Amino acid sequence: MSRRFEPSGPLRGTVTPPADKSISHRAALFGAMAEDPVTVHNYLHAGDTRSSLNALRKLGAGVDEHDGELVIRGVGLHAPLGTTGGILDVGNSGTLLRMLPGWLAGQPGGIWTLDGDESIRTRPVDRVADPLRRMGAEVDAREGRLPPLTIQGATLNGIDYELPVATAQVKSCVLIAGLLAQGQTTVSEPYPSRDHTERLLHRSRANFEREDGRLRVSQLDELELDEIVVPGDPSSAAFLIAAACLVPRSRVVIRDVCLNWTRTGFLRIIGRMGAIVVGDLEEPGTISDEEPSGEIDVAAGPLEATEVEPGEVPLAIDELPLVALLACFAEGETVVRGAQELRVKESDRIQGLVDGLTALGGDIDAEEGMFRVRGTGGLEGGTLDARGDHRLAMLGAVAGLASREGVEVVGMESAAVSYPDFERDLAALLES
Ligand code: S3P
Repeated sequence: MSRRFEPSGPLRGTVTPPADKSISHRAALFGAMAEDPVTVHNYLHAGDTRSSLNALRKLGAGVDEHDGELVIRGVGLHAPLGTTGGILDVGNSGTLLRMLPGWLAGQPGGIWTLDGDESIRTRPVDRVADPLRRMGAEVDAREGRLPPLTIQGATLNGIDYELPVATAQVKSCVLIAGLLAQGQTTVSEPYPSRDHTERLLHRSRANFEREDGRLRVSQLDELELDEIVVPGDPSSAAFLIAAACLVPRSRVVIRDVCLNWTRTGFLRIIGRMGAIVVGDLEEPGTISDEEPSGEIDVAAGPLEATEVEPGEVPLAIDELPLVALLACFAEGETVVRGAQELRVKESDRIQGLVDGLTALGGDIDAEEGMFRVRGTGGLEGGTLDARGDHRLAMLGAVAGLASREGVEVVGMESAAVSYPDFERDLAALLES
């Protein structure tokens, strides 16, 4: 489906973004692993998080909806699950693909295969296969590194694991497997990444500690959890925020959005670039078992270039394409380093940015995990192919509003993976 986004007047008004995708996935999975029913308020209803519920149902969890709230009736942390094997469809969801194996690996006697759409078949899984094998599970992948991914459950042993790259998905997988493994499991990562799993582990009364960036978890009989409230998704809100930063005289208030510091790197980066961002953001480095949420007030200001260093990358990973878009409108040259993970997202997002922004009149080049954008005073417009990637589709729409001639986005339907009402919310801000 193609959609055209014309240059627009200012965006004005208040919007509540969709529920957070990362926290929704974890709420579903923790609910399924718990013994007693868990109520989830404000679960995200979108393509990816539907895949989670479907997979967990197949594993025996009950999912009921009452007045917009989900009640998940779990099967407990340890076997028997509803099935001892079969194919689980993860759709387009890399998070489900990487986190679920942590639970399955600790179910002796079970054997499951995880598979999904065309894009999921390009996402590396050796990053979860390696630690799970070390813990004792048998794991097979196509060409040793790609889905379909087959996991044969076993009695696991705790390990000390240093993640080669900062990824919350793999960190979560190993921590969840650690709940089922004999002894202790420790995990460390080169830089902090989103910590929603850690916050939930604390809240579930797991034997879990964090100390100097090292995470330690030990075997547990039962997760104790009764209620999870999912705040709004800062990564979805980022598209509206970027539009407000680019279209002169805009002013947008984002309500009930997650302000966890491991998710607000983008706001710190654009603040440095000159955007006016006001909100009660959580202090970087905070350790908490709550998910703080609140309001952010954003207004456009003259933008200047910035440099994004590798340690900032995991804290803004899904928003880095928007940093590139903003950089086209900023004074000077913006450089992002250490972002190779963008090459293995729903599409190769670095290549997508180079091809997409160049086609719209931008000046961008890239080398492996680095990209550089020179501000040229704006973008002409043209056509952007989303390549089946929800975040590139929404970036194309924002580029259109801020461009001189408008942008035709090819593949706009992929936005439904994380933000089904994106076009409606954007239109509301343009009308007010
Ligand atoms: C996610 C972690 C990030 C992010 C993805 C969601 C999560 O991936 O890009 O959209 O929910 O843990 P990585 O952990 O691979 O960086």
